[in-house]
Amino acid sequence: MKVAFFSTKSYDKEYFLAFNKNFEHHLTFFDYSISESVSKNNFEGFDAICVFVNDLIDAVIVKKMAANGIKLIALRCAGFNNIDLKAAAQYNIKIVRVPAYSPQSVAEHAVALLMTLNRKTHKSYQRVVQNNFSLDHLTGFNVYKKTVGVIGTGLIGQAFCSIMLGFGCQVIAYDVVESSDLIKKGVVYKTLDEIYKLSDIISLHCPLVTQTHYLINSTAYEKMKNGVMLINTSRGAVIDSLATISALKSGKLGYLGIDVYENEQHLFFKDLSETKIEDDIFHSLKSFPNVLITGHQAFLTHEALSEISRTTLQNMTDFENGAVLKNEVK
Ligand code: NAI
Repeated sequence: MKVAFFSTKSYDKEYFLAFNKNFEHHLTFFDYSISESVSKNNFEGFDAICVFVNDLIDAVIVKKMAANGIKLIALRCAGFNNIDLKAAAQYNIKIVRVPAYSPQSVAEHAVALLMTLNRKTHKSYQRVVQNNFSLDHLTGFNVYKKTVGVIGTGLIGQAFCSIMLGFGCQVIAYDVVESSDLIKKGVVYKTLDEIYKLSDIISLHCPLVTQTHYLINSTAYEKMKNGVMLINTSRGAVIDSLATISALKSGKLGYLGIDVYENEQHLFFKDLSETKIEDDIFHSLKSFPNVLITGHQAFLTHEALSEISRTTLQNMTDFENGAVLKNEVK
């Protein structure tokens, strides 16, 4: 089928073109986002569009797509909070996604944020480059035997729990659905309030849905231990950024590691090094010495990119053949 790809980067083209040799779809890559494409009105001639996490598809865009004969939205990611599902259903546009491409890629990045913040290797690297071998202010803590609270124990949360169990941590978790596999491995499910009260480190692995929007707000921070570490590789708006800045100022939040940010669609995935960034919340977050931000790269491994390409192209083939869409979002 003829597919227009939006927000494409060099690695998208590289992996999709390589895997498409087995599928033979007609792929056209645009480096701009879906919202920019609306003003260019270039949906015509395509059967499907393929988008990523920050391509916001609202009712207006869905209507335009339907008018141009688009029948399928293929998300090359797991999350689907960026799509107006009702509008797509109204115009009978199907949505497919990649539910599980490599949970380890994201779980391991969460651990990288945790360990970097803790042992301050990002600061050591900068010091050694400048021949500064002082160890002042580089003291970390042993992760061994610490209590790690995991919110959301789906595929990524489970992979994260396994790594933390391997570190010798006490792992506690909260989810609306409990995993018997995790319980067998030694994870103990608790209420959200207990997670806040008991955890030295909290890692977020739930999706962004109405119930989790601003889950981590000022009330949640009040219930947490002083100096707690918070890691977020799920979606930015699971955390209330303003409440987080207050928690950093008061010292309640001792460390913050985030790969996602609630207003990231204006920033992430672009080189803005020569641009004036007008986002004061982002500037404020960045200014704390105990905050580490990466630009939504937790998924970015060879294994994940391979699986994203293979599954997305298979989703398109299934749609084209009228087969059951096992990765459909309803
Ligand atoms: P999953 O669907 O396997 O697991 C999500 C878990 O969250 C499920 O167990 C579900 O029951 C639970 N959940 C749902 N509502 C909840 C609530 N109100 N409170 C607590 N738990 C709740 O999804 P997966 O693959 O583990 O991904 C999790 C999230 O990670 C995705 O939704 C996405 O937002 C994010 N993600 C981030 C990436 C990155 O590069 N930073 C890459 C891939 C995913």
